Amino acid sequence: ARISLRQLLDHAAENDYGVPAFNINNMEQGLAVMDAARKAESPVIIQASRGARNYAHDTMLTKMIDALVEIYPELPIVMHQDHGNSPATCATAIQNGFTSVMMDGSLMADAKTPADYEYNVNVTKTVVDFAHACGVSVEGELGVLGSLETGMGEAEDGHGAEGVLDHSQLLTDPDQAVDFVAKTNVDALAIAMGTSHGAYKFSRKPDGEVLAMHVIAEIHKRLPNTHLVMHGSSSVPQELQDLINAYGGEMPQTYGVPVEELQKAIKIGVRKINIDTDCRMAITGTIRKCFIENPANFDPRSYLKPAKEAMQQVCYDRFVQFGTAGNA
Ligand code: G3H
Ligand code: 13P
Ligand code: ZN
Repeated sequence: ARISLRQLLDHAAENDYGVPAFNINNMEQGLAVMDAARKAESPVIIQASRGARNYAHDTMLTKMIDALVEIYPELPIVMHQDHGNSPATCATAIQNGFTSVMMDGSLMADAKTPADYEYNVNVTKTVVDFAHACGVSVEGELGVLGSLETGMGEAEDGHGAEGVLDHSQLLTDPDQAVDFVAKTNVDALAIAMGTSHGAYKFSRKPDGEVLAMHVIAEIHKRLPNTHLVMHGSSSVPQELQDLINAYGGEMPQTYGVPVEELQKAIKIGVRKINIDTDCRMAITGTIRKCFIENPANFDPRSYLKPAKEAMQQVCYDRFVQFGTAGNA
């Protein structure tokens, strides 16, 4: 059944677990998340970006979610708008049956000026007012995630957060977080704590220093009732880089957020962990392998089924690693 993000994350907070939020764009990705959740007996957060809504068409996406709710009746499902850029994007998501929306008022903030902050507060508050009236939860964002400067992909130098801004600029200010939540009443807050979107986050394995665990701990202590969200949380597993490169891919060596760091973050208050890149890599690596191993085959199901299963394995692993498993 469909539930709101607030309902799910309140349960996660009471029971000390985290919930991965997986991006989907098509049927195979939707089925991958749900089959993994069924096996792990996990509640799920499925999220769609604006790009996903354009790619799949709102009508297709909406009816697919209806179908997933029907096919997996035993599982609680949150359908979430990822990185909503305006009240209109959030409103149409709600019209399409989403139970949670992110109003990313930090997308506009290319400089951290007081006007940017005021814009973020106002636009987020606007969304909270109408979303809450519909029983829909809201995620806000405060702080700058490295790669958002250059769009959703990698930073210009290919090294994510490290190259774009200096470290302190990447971190959410706890005082400002308290003020932001008081003024907006968001259910969940995405904080900047050293991660960035895409595969090219770090040029070596990051430690607790780079990931600013103290910022998470401090914000959680002061906002115990606001669920913290970690974007850019793909681990970029070595085996998936190797798989892609073994079958003709050209991904330069890179490092994501190690699973054990995500587990530490959950222990100190992170509840929603956004993952897209790892799923993309599992699908692409598997399809590359199928093409090389079976060049004569041209039935899309022959590579889409194993690709779906590879993404399913990533999702299943995270459900278990984050303690989501068994909580459906
Ligand atoms: O945060 C971004 C997600 O990975 C979605 O990416 O906008 O290319 O669909 P996208
Ligand atoms: P990754 O690129 O690390 O998977 O992050 C996805 C994300 O934050 C979606 O909002
Ligand atoms: Zn994100």
